[in-house]
Amino acid sequence: MTESATENTRSIETPEGTFTIRLVSENLGGIYPGMIRYTVEVLRDTETVYTYAINSYEVPPGSLFDTREVAEIVFSRLTHDVASRPHTYTRPRLFTRPLPGGSTTAVVILQGSPRRFGNSAKIASWCDDEAARAGISSRVFYLQEMDIKTCIGCYTCYDYGYCPIDDDMPGIIRALEAASIIVVCTPVYTGTVPAGLKAVIDRCQWLHAREKVLGREVHAKGLLVAVAGRRGDEPFVCVTRVVGMFMENLGIRPAEPVLIGDLDRVRDVGSIEGLEDSVRTALRAQIEGREES
Ligand SMILES: Cc1cc2nc3c(=O)[nH]c(=O)nc-3n(C[C@H](O)[C@H](O)[C@H](O)COP(=O)(O)O)c2cc1C
Repeated sequence: MTESATENTRSIETPEGTFTIRLVSENLGGIYPGMIRYTVEVLRDTETVYTYAINSYEVPPGSLFDTREVAEIVFSRLTHDVASRPHTYTRPRLFTRPLPGGSTTAVVILQGSPRRFGNSAKIASWCDDEAARAGISSRVFYLQEMDIKTCIGCYTCYDYGYCPIDDDMPGIIRALEAASIIVVCTPVYTGTVPAGLKAVIDRCQWLHAREKVLGREVHAKGLLVAVAGRRGDEPFVCVTRVVGMFMENLGIRPAEPVLIGDLDRVRDVGSIEGLEDSVRTALRAQIEGREES
């Protein structure tokens, strides 16, 4: 439960009605230690017509500006502005980036390899097909073909629940939010996941913020299928940790991962006897158990 306190409030009578300007602080220490969000709201009678928010994680260490001072300056400027130009505050202005229309895809597959016809893509197609066989919807996101920028660490997703970066990420966020199973198919690149997949994972901070700030919930189960050139467990140490943290942050319940090594020698996952069946079985177990909580 978030603790909040009204730090300042001002009431202004104008020809356009009665406005209230309110500065509220919220302790978001339950999300990150010491995180405080300040919100300045303008209400016309009881309707919120303008909202400004800033949180203490937006400020880099050593910065000369203080989030509370910024919120106080915004509070006094808005007080002045509403009193002098009340007609500009008669309709609500909502700052957000709407997500695309509601997704109903049950199985969302993040294909992290830049190779369109490589091993991870083949595994993704097996998973896509297995979902179809089970009669449920699925979608493969070929991340390499999408415009996904890296997270800039601005933390503004914790202010309003949306990310200000303009790219293809909203479709992924919407799909992950609605999915009941999330499959990550990825090769090992220099000990971890390829940069494109890592960018998506970092940008899912937005989804974490949506869960924490807006109360959205991800109910999905997760399955990692990873491939590596070298044999043994060692190539997968970091990948399982990174994808495990991604799932843990978002409340996705992970299944036992399927890890396939020695591909520098074997080359093609399709040539490994019984592997396709193992991947399909792993996904089917998730599909069959997806109604369980
Ligand atoms: C840039 C790059 C880095 C790689 N790093 C590793 C690594 O650290 N460990 C490993 O076992 N294999 C590594 N590999 C091999 C790939 O994991 C392997 O070829 C895999 O089958 C490629 O999967 P894909 O066909 O889905 O792209 C690397 C390959 C590339 C291109």
